[in-house]
Amino acid sequence: NSYEPCDFVLFGTLGDLSRRKLLPSLYQLEKANLMHPDTTIVGVARQDMSLEDYIEEVHTNLIKFGEKELCEATWEKMKARLHYACVDMKDVDSYCVLDDHVDASRTMVCYLATPPAIYGDICRGLHSCKIIDSSVRVVLEKPIGHDLESSKVINEQVAEYFDEKQIYRIDHYLGKETVLNLVSLRFANSIFATNWDHNCIDHVQISVAESVGIEGRWGYFDDAGQMRDMVQNHLLQILSLVAMEPPTTLDADSIRDEKLKVLKALRPINASNVNQTTVRGQYTAGFVKGQEVPGYLEEEGANTQSKTESFVAIKAEIDNWRWAGVPFYLRTGKRMPNKVSEVVIYFKRQPHNLFGDSFKDLPPNKLVIRLQPDEGVEITVMNKVPGLTNSGSMDLQKSKLNLSFSEAFADERIPDAYEKLLLEVMLGNQALFVRRDEIEQAWTWVDSILAAWRSTSEPPEPYQAGTWGPVDSIGLLARENRSWYESK
Ligand code: BG6
Repeated sequence: NSYEPCDFVLFGTLGDLSRRKLLPSLYQLEKANLMHPDTTIVGVARQDMSLEDYIEEVHTNLIKFGEKELCEATWEKMKARLHYACVDMKDVDSYCVLDDHVDASRTMVCYLATPPAIYGDICRGLHSCKIIDSSVRVVLEKPIGHDLESSKVINEQVAEYFDEKQIYRIDHYLGKETVLNLVSLRFANSIFATNWDHNCIDHVQISVAESVGIEGRWGYFDDAGQMRDMVQNHLLQILSLVAMEPPTTLDADSIRDEKLKVLKALRPINASNVNQTTVRGQYTAGFVKGQEVPGYLEEEGANTQSKTESFVAIKAEIDNWRWAGVPFYLRTGKRMPNKVSEVVIYFKRQPHNLFGDSFKDLPPNKLVIRLQPDEGVEITVMNKVPGLTNSGSMDLQKSKLNLSFSEAFADERIPDAYEKLLLEVMLGNQALFVRRDEIEQAWTWVDSILAAWRSTSEPPEPYQAGTWGPVDSIGLLARENRSWYESK
């Protein structure tokens, strides 16, 4: 890692992601004194705009999407770093203007917060104005492709100009504190490290529920669906971190090699087993948090015949030594009752019951890792109820050992995922970014499920907005005598 100045060039600086996430994150890094004093921020967009207008635009958006009241000293420092360059990203000649804003002797970070369809144009443009050398880093936002084939095309276009060591593919879940904590939880605690396999674990649940709908993104979402939007990236990344073997070090490639092995070991789901292992759903009108919301097919701009899924549940199996016979149940959906993401590890039941008939069914221990909100880690244990009895038996009760981040780390602010990721790019650490082979392997698994769904003419199962998904998703676990963990 190197704490050196860089020119941070933000392509698509006037777009939604930059306004909502990237610029507010840079502001937070500034506030935390984590920006190198000599680093510059070069906003790039097609619009002809003066630097004064750009500064005004950034200021307005920071207030709108970041802190309501900006810290003046922080803003003054950030403002002094800002440059603006007007570039028509499809016109190779227009990139030369960047020469006036970047210093060839320093590292340049090119963040492509633009539609992936123009990643190739941008790389070509940078190349034609001779800005690219081996120190340049390029950051790519999702979606990288729509399937394996299209992701290869995008990766190829970028690889024509950049080496894999220079490419940082974002999955913002990898920047979330609690997702990062999966690594420390597993490998800094022998209590978990030694109990993390098929001998001790019955099954694992990974749920990422959202209360939002498609938020006006019909055009994008209907093409993608929840499988491409959430499973291919975020859920499979979480699964990889939960299931991977211990990496030899925390180096980027040690971690990514282990994640890749998990993806490769995922049992293929195809037409022969798709009905037993997956459930698709699509929300209908209902109430979320007391508010009436339209159904998926009634959203603005909707194609009323759409068969796109807004909910997915999958029973995934990892065919390797550690996880033989341990299902990983994945579940994610829009318009569910709450926004809640968690990983729940169900340990095996005790082999023998000492506690008599009243505790015939001793519940298994559970490790609940709350990714968001109310970040924390919780273990359910059986505990003796204190007190005397005249029956000679022991009264047991299920209790919780609960680590709540907001209590344990009350003085610490939980940074946004993008703050962490932007910092890591500037430090040149690829560990939290997805390697090309990981993306392509994830697509391979997902494509097979999508193809199996396409081969049936069945529409997704409806579920009412504000519920936990279609009835069949309950059946997916119930037929194996299991049930979804119920969040508070
Ligand atoms: C994005 C998806 O990648 O992640 C969105 O495109 C989704 O559809 C979002 O809502 C969820 O992210 P978070 O951080 O709010 O859980």
